[in-house]
Amino acid sequence: MSELLHHSITAPDEAIASSSAAAATTGAGYTVNETEAVRPPRGAPAASPALKLEAVTLAFGGVTAIAEVDLVVPSGEIRAIIGPNGAGKSSLINIISGIYRPDRGRVWLGARSFKRVPTQQLAQLGVARTFQNLALFKGLSVFDNIVIARAPARRAGFVEQLIGLARARREQADAHARTAAIIEFLHLGAHREKLVNTLSYGLQKRVELARALVARPQLLLLDEPMAGMTAGEKQEMAGYIRAVRDEFGTTVVLIEHDIGVVMGLSDKITVLDYGRKIADGTPAEIRVNPVVIDAYLGVAHDDEVFNDNI
Ligand SMILES: Nc1ncnc2c1ncn2[C@@H]1O[C@H](COP(=O)(O)OP(=O)(O)O)[C@@H](O)[C@H]1O
Ligand SMILES: [Mg+2]
Repeated sequence: MSELLHHSITAPDEAIASSSAAAATTGAGYTVNETEAVRPPRGAPAASPALKLEAVTLAFGGVTAIAEVDLVVPSGEIRAIIGPNGAGKSSLINIISGIYRPDRGRVWLGARSFKRVPTQQLAQLGVARTFQNLALFKGLSVFDNIVIARAPARRAGFVEQLIGLARARREQADAHARTAAIIEFLHLGAHREKLVNTLSYGLQKRVELARALVARPQLLLLDEPMAGMTAGEKQEMAGYIRAVRDEFGTTVVLIEHDIGVVMGLSDKITVLDYGRKIADGTPAEIRVNPVVIDAYLGVAHDDEVFNDNI
């Protein structure tokens, strides 16, 4: 830990810090296929947590969205972020994925530390996310929506792709194979050629998950992946999220309002309130944490979901 803190002070922005990172970034670096090779086997202690935040703070005008938040998510964990509306959950995901730059603090992705995560390089850094609101190409098929998401990890240049050089063809074949595998994994085969706007909401959310998975992320950020779903669809999605972690060892950070689902799915839960982290713990610990109960029972919040389920 002290080594990590030391590096966070001395490392330049967007620089590689620890010796394990130096090893990982020699050679071809963090292209998606290579990251699998450097990931420790499941169950082995990881050199660095998948995600770490140090005293991250962000304000919008006078509104403090995130205040001095520290967070450590070990590799392979499913971590839920919960809290009342406006607590800062989406802002946190937006900081981790580089959409927002925090005013203070640092974000660690594995052994690399950033003041602002380079959002254009998320795929190379092994990070994928979904958005609170659906972000699909409505007029494209399920297959096309997913295969397009593979594009950032492909190295063939535009001209090469046009003239169909061997590498471009190989990479296209790889993208298609990967897309087909994800479609099978998420049981989307029956819908493969359908336009996404003809699918149920629950299925569209599953296509979004597929889009995030096709880049083989080590860290998956899900902003309300079950919002607006029926109880049955939520259980189904929870099952897929768990399967992703179990099958690929992916670390998952998700925001979810349905406390019943969160309690059943997460290894650990982090609770935000007014931008501050008020608790971290296992579902059993969070359920009985008086600070958490107070925050949710407080009349200042209009979010009743937790009360209904606790
Ligand atoms: N882009 C933004 N501009 C201004 N204020 C924002 C922006 N994003 C979030 N906020 C504010 O930050 C606070 C936290 O919002 P958010 O992270 O969306 O909370 P949550 O996802 O927990 O509901 C809220 O007060 C919200 O209004
Ligand atoms: Mg939100």
